[in-house]
Formats: sequence, structure tokens, C-alpha cells
Amino acid sequence: MRLLLHIATLLFVTTHTYAWGTPEDDKAMFLSTFAVNIPDVPVSQYVHGSMMLSEDALSQYNSIMDFPPFQDVIDRGQTIWETPFKNGNTFSDCFENGGVDIAGRFPIYNEEQRRVITFEMTLNFCLEQNGEMQMAYVDPETMGALSAYARSLSDGMLMEIEVTSKPATDKYELGKSLYFRRIGQYNLACASCHLTNGGRYFRDELLSPTIGQAVHFPVFRGGERLYTLQMRYQRCMEAVGAVPFESGSEELNNLEYFHSYLSNGLPLQSSVYRR
Ligand code: HEC
Repeated sequence: MRLLLHIATLLFVTTHTYAWGTPEDDKAMFLSTFAVNIPDVPVSQYVHGSMMLSEDALSQYNSIMDFPPFQDVIDRGQTIWETPFKNGNTFSDCFENGGVDIAGRFPIYNEEQRRVITFEMTLNFCLEQNGEMQMAYVDPETMGALSAYARSLSDGMLMEIEVTSKPATDKYELGKSLYFRRIGQYNLACASCHLTNGGRYFRDELLSPTIGQAVHFPVFRGGERLYTLQMRYQRCMEAVGAVPFESGSEELNNLEYFHSYLSNGLPLQSSVYRR
């Protein structure tokens, strides 16, 4: 993989040093780093990630999004969403507002269960409550397609992750420490690439800044391979030679909680094309 061949160059880049603060302090620190790396680019453009600085890439993106090659998968997700369970209920019965404009509040810290709950977990809870089989978090055919459609019901909603209580902050901090932990044989942290070098070129590819990444999942890489957000985390972990945590694990749920908070205020869009 081309990425692996050139990863060694990043080893010499020191990870950002900064004071640990509140979630809002963290967000301000990320924003000020990107303001230096990518001056003159408004934060609203960060949602385009690695395409944000290339007119060619953006116009190719727009033409693909006019007739998404993955529309059939979203349609399949819609069928799963709308097909009644054996007891006659449907997914929309499980959710406030029928599931519309809610995805941007996830992940949520649940005070009773004392853990972070992702949107995909609530889809599985709904199946369980209705006596149906749960879906595997990494299965693009079932959970992937369902998540892609269910999240599209919140398109345009602004991300609004809440970290209010002390126990919620503890989970956020766990996610943050994983983001800054050097892992794998290349000894790199998420932050080495997407914070310190976010908005900088890594060979011919712009490394997307952390802010703006969480609002547009699942993505279809190459227009056809579906990746949920946690599946994308797993690929980056593999790319640095680490054994990834499982999708749906506490580690990745806490990471998603921290990571998503940083995109607060940006509009959701499911699903999008990625290279
Ligand atoms: C060696 C550098 C490197 C490291 C370390 C790394 N990534 Fe990535 N990541 C990439 C590249 C390259 C891409 C594809 C281009 C892009 O979108 O930035 C990518 C893409 C992503 C994307 C998708 C962005 C999008 O808009 O489609 C997410 C999310 C992501 N990484 C999260 C993480 C997380 C979480 C970690 C830590 C577990 C991590 N990355 C570690 C290089 C890295």
C-alpha cells in the first residue's frame, strides 16, 4: 500500500503538545492548528476532507453525487428500515421523531448504563426490543445499508454532541487519549496525521483535518465500498500496523464520542463518495 511506503516520513514529526482542557478548549486548539495549516479555508469546507483544496476533486465529487453509484445500497437500507418486524412495529417506532433529525446527537453518554451509545447501537437495541436478530456492526449489507439510510433522515442537521456530566467527560477523555496514543509498528497516533498534519499534503493526498470527518458517514470508497465511521477508524489503525479494536467496542465508541464532538455545528450528510 502506497500509504505504508511513505508513513516513515511522518515518524519524524512530533505529536502536538498542548494543555489538556475542556472539550471546548480541545476544539479551539484543533481549530487554531488547522487555521495555521490551511489558512483561508472556511471551517464549513472541512467536511470535504481531502478534497477541500482541489477544484478537480470537488467537481468530480459533485458529479458523482448527482447520480450516486451507491444509491441501490441506500434504497436497500430504506427497505430494511420500512419493513415491519414480525410484531408489526418498524424502526421508526423506536425513535423520537420517527428517527428524523436525531443522528447528530449520537454518540450519547447514557447515565444509567454508564457508557457511550452510538447511533448504530440504538438500531440494534431496536431489533432486540422487537425480538429480532441483531446485526453485525461491520456488515455492509445489513447494518451498513441500514445506517446509511437511517442517518440520511438527519441530513442537514447540525452535529450536537453533549459532554455534560463528570462520567460523560471521563469517556470523552478516554476517547481523546486513544486519539493521541501512538500505536502500531509505525508508532503513529491519529493526531499525528489528522491534527498535526491535518490539512497538509502527505505525498499526493491531503490529510483531512479531524474536524468535519464525523458528519458524513457511512462513506462509499471508490463509489461502492461502504465504510461506517468505526470501520474507517479500523482501516487507519491497520494502516499504521496496529490491530484495530472491534466495531462496537467501548474503545471505539469512546473514540467516536470524542471525535464526533469536534465536528459539533457542522451539517450531517449521509452518504458520500470518497476515494
Ligand atoms: C499515517 C497517517 C494516518 C494515521 C496515523 C491515521 N490516519 Fe486516518 N486517514 C489517513 C489517510 C491518508 C486518509 C484518507 C485521506 C483523508 O481523508 O484524510 C484517512 C482517512 C480517515 C478518515 C476518513 C475521512 C473522510 O472524510 O473520509 C477518518 C475518519 C480517519 N482517517 C480517522 C482516523 C483515526 C480515528 C485514526 C487513529 C486511529 C487515524 N485516522 C489515523 C491517514 C492516517
